[in-house]
Amino acid sequence: MNIAPFGVEEWLNEWEKEAVYDIAGSSIASLTLEELIGLDGSTIETFFQEQSKTTLNYGWIEGSPDFKKEVSQLYTTVSPEAVLQTNGATGANLLALYALVEAGDHVIALHPSYQQLYDIPKSLGATVDYWSIYESNQWLPRIEELKELIQPNTKLICLNNANNPTGTLLDESLLKEIVALARKVDAYILVDEVYQSLDPAQKIPSIVDLYEKGISTNSLSKTYSLPGLRVGWTASSNEIAALFRKYRDYTMICAGVLDDALAVHALKNKALILERNRTIVATNLAILNDWVQKEPRVSLILPKSVSTSFIKLDIPIDVEEFCLRLLKEKGVLLVPGNRFETPLHARLGFCAPTDTLVAGLRELSLFLKNFD
Ligand SMILES: Cc1ncc(COP(=O)(O)O)c(C=O)c1O
Repeated sequence: MNIAPFGVEEWLNEWEKEAVYDIAGSSIASLTLEELIGLDGSTIETFFQEQSKTTLNYGWIEGSPDFKKEVSQLYTTVSPEAVLQTNGATGANLLALYALVEAGDHVIALHPSYQQLYDIPKSLGATVDYWSIYESNQWLPRIEELKELIQPNTKLICLNNANNPTGTLLDESLLKEIVALARKVDAYILVDEVYQSLDPAQKIPSIVDLYEKGISTNSLSKTYSLPGLRVGWTASSNEIAALFRKYRDYTMICAGVLDDALAVHALKNKALILERNRTIVATNLAILNDWVQKEPRVSLILPKSVSTSFIKLDIPIDVEEFCLRLLKEKGVLLVPGNRFETPLHARLGFCAPTDTLVAGLRELSLFLKNFD
């Protein structure tokens, strides 16, 4: 099977460990194991004392009943049976795409966004049309263009809401317009929802709650600050879950009993995680915004209250060369925009720990002076 290299992952895999100030990632400052367990006052000792009696068999294949119940409660229309645990949202997207897309299908994908959402369908032999987002339109797509792209044989529309790398949101009314268009041709809509706005005023419904052929994929990696758990899920109708189950048996057995237990603990205490993260996002977004105002070579369509931003750089050199020199000379890691096929920009993960963000921006400012 032919597949394009995954631009962002290749970049991060190569350079992440060299960073002194890693402001490239898109999670909200990850929790330690101790912080996670301590959320409800438990201690490492009591938690693992209890877990020590767990048999390390495969456990619950689709995720434990507690896990499925907790996840189903994130939605208004999803039954626990229709939740399938996966290896991160990456695993959830792969499962959905592998189950739904066949050679010759027509797929539409928001672009740029998470590369899996267009390059896996291409690798499966689908024709993929991009539904572009435009900086001039606040990094949003235009519904008229979707009307032109959609065909009687469109099988699937892939979206990422909020969007990686820009941090912008497709709101409820736009989602409803997309659903109306998809319904006309009986297309599925897959929405990768790993970035959730932490501002209650920006709450957007999940696609699975808006559309009978909607599939929501998500994980604990971004909004919940636990990428190291590698736990994600698909949420869909029971019929779609039944289809996914068949393909899931070929790609994973389970996520592991300890990861499941920690995921359940996180979901039971999600209000505390989200409260912590609301503060980080608000504080860091204000710092980023202030910094951008003072940097003549940087501009930014402000992201919503989600953990990724996409700065525009006015620099006389290629953005990948810029990012590499920035890393080597100042220890600051960004993701160059060419990795999202948008070369005048860079992804800046502003929800790193606040001191890392402040120091990283200070060093980035010093580096930008080279171009005065
Ligand atoms: C849109 C999107 N989906 C999925 C992932 C990966 O999620 P996970 O760590 O849960 O596999 C990322 C990571 O950057 C992402 O940006």
